[in-house]
Amino acid sequence: MAKPSSDQFSRRAFLKGSSAVAAASAVVTSAAAQEKSAQSSQVIAGETTVSLNVNGKSMTAKVEPRTTLLDVLRYQFNLTGAKPVSSDGSSGASTVLIDNRPVEAAVTLALSAVGKNIQTVESLAGDAVPKAFMQYDASQCGFCTPGFVVAVRAFLNRNPNATEEQIRAGLNGNICRCGTYANILQAAISIAKGGQNG
Ligand code: FES
Repeated sequence: MAKPSSDQFSRRAFLKGSSAVAAASAVVTSAAAQEKSAQSSQVIAGETTVSLNVNGKSMTAKVEPRTTLLDVLRYQFNLTGAKPVSSDGSSGASTVLIDNRPVEAAVTLALSAVGKNIQTVESLAGDAVPKAFMQYDASQCGFCTPGFVVAVRAFLNRNPNATEEQIRAGLNGNICRCGTYANILQAAISIAKGGQNG
């Protein structure tokens, strides 16, 4: 049997060496990936305790990264005004204010609200908006009402002298299955005209 040339030797040695390096790299990469994956899954699966500022109070909640603000408000803080009508937030029934901006709590992660001012419909108990809703009979089943109340308050805070047309456009993110739009609109218009904002 012919003795391998030094060239064959060196190529074979190189290939073997390369394989070993590649294998070692793969092991290292795999180990690093597994470690990274393990860290990620710890973060994804982990529960953590956070403080949320809700209606002027600091409240403690246990949340996972996937926990929605709506779930925390309803099931940990017992603030059940915001409603779980649509999981994609398209109904507007879960509207709350975060730093004075209306957002859908159903599609807002609780962790993203840490350090911000969260305001729910419960904080508007003495506000002109729910009073106007009562005055104008702007509620039937009531499921959409808390979201509308918060949305009207948010809109009028920014547009205190809004016209009917502007109010209609400003509230188009909220849906009322019972069809009380005309009364809701009248309630909002009465506030804009009467200067009862704030
Ligand atoms: S009052 Fe029933 S959905 Fe609006």
